[in-house]
Amino acid sequence: MDAIRVRGGKPLTGRVRVSGAKNAALPILCSTLLSDGESRLRNVPKLRDMVTTAALLKFLGRPVDMDAPIFTVGAATNVKPEAPYELVKQMRASVLVLGPLVARYGRAKVSLPGGCAIGARPIDQHLKGLEAMGCKIEVEKGYVICEAPAGGRLIGAEIRFDMPTVTGTENVLMAATLAKGRTTLVNCAKEPEIEELARVLNKMGARVDGAGTEVIHVQGVEPGALEPFDHAIMPDRIEAGTYMCAAAAVEGGDVIVEGARFEDLEALIRTMQSAGVLIDAADGGIRVRRQGPLRCVDFSTEPHPGFPTDMQAQLLAILCLAEGECHISETIFENRFMHVPELVRMGANITLKGHTAHLKGVKQLYGASVMATDLRASASLVIAGLMADDETEVRRVYHIDRGYEMIEQKFQGLGADVARVRGAEA
Ligand code: EPU
Repeated sequence: MDAIRVRGGKPLTGRVRVSGAKNAALPILCSTLLSDGESRLRNVPKLRDMVTTAALLKFLGRPVDMDAPIFTVGAATNVKPEAPYELVKQMRASVLVLGPLVARYGRAKVSLPGGCAIGARPIDQHLKGLEAMGCKIEVEKGYVICEAPAGGRLIGAEIRFDMPTVTGTENVLMAATLAKGRTTLVNCAKEPEIEELARVLNKMGARVDGAGTEVIHVQGVEPGALEPFDHAIMPDRIEAGTYMCAAAAVEGGDVIVEGARFEDLEALIRTMQSAGVLIDAADGGIRVRRQGPLRCVDFSTEPHPGFPTDMQAQLLAILCLAEGECHISETIFENRFMHVPELVRMGANITLKGHTAHLKGVKQLYGASVMATDLRASASLVIAGLMADDETEVRRVYHIDRGYEMIEQKFQGLGADVARVRGAEA
């Protein structure tokens, strides 16, 4: 199993370019199922999750030509609307084929994704939306089976989500594009990736209005009416935020994160500025500088436009050496502090109480062997390694490879002493 070895202490300097957004590419790849022709996606990040999605689409009858960063999803031939456990278990977001399949083919059988390291992550809201559009839903032997009403077409409805859910909003939104009549989705998630999906759906000929706000209206079009598309994926705001935190990890850091956009990162930027990080617009991106000591700052994760749960671990890591004390609350997922015990092994002073981490800044972190447990936790451990004395080995980095393209090369380009160790101990 691969590990990442980090020798800490050096400030990062230079420019780094962010890749296409994983969490936009995933639903957009699934949206190709809504149209029968060949679609093309550009700026697709080179990540394991993209390969898993391509394998799933191929299994469903849509072969994908992967010539990164361009993916071409072939025209539909004999689509079999069934997603097996072997593929879904590798990636929860596979559930995003459910809405498009039942909308286009009148039926879908998709394995339930099961538990996840960061929380239970049920899909009841996805199912509630599809049910409101007339689907008959059964759960059988670990699979969810959705049948559209007689005639095989979903029916527009008014659906209120119990909480803003990103993939839930995306799944139901995609389904609504082909429903008969008008659908109104209320209490939607407002993440930029949902706006990006809606842009693509509208390019295909769908009639979506309001994506990025709490209420989305969709006027359904006839199945068969959506056209294939050609689209370049937006930059990954979480990858951008991760390099922004890394730039601020060590005093003297001065990095331009190319492709980072202020409008996608407002809550993170505000919080980092309160901690003393200097952040300015730069040609093609955002410049991040760290000139003096950082200050501890309280923050709490919230649905967009609040502070993103996907950035909690990385910011927490850089605050380990900040002056003072702070409280960091995680309100989205119930088990998203798994990086904390590892950071404590590196010398951080953090106590967990329920959904809140109480952090007291320390003077020094020490290099250690630590274990990556999920994607963002792993990134936070690499950042902690940049701040620690001596050498840190982050094990089980297959988690990182799900969401960060060429992470060690990008860090090396900023002058960090980071290397991949092939076949390290698990
Ligand atoms: N929830 C339910 N029922 C549902 C759906 C969600 O109870 O049917 C709950 C979840 O358990 C959670 C909250 O609602 O407590 C929000 O979850 P959400 O559905 O928004 O999460 P998601 O769609 O499964 C996406 C991203 C995650 C990101 C979250 C929150 C993708 C593919 N994944 O997950 O990204 O953390 O939104 O912003 O878009 C990552 O990239 O590392 C990652 C985990």
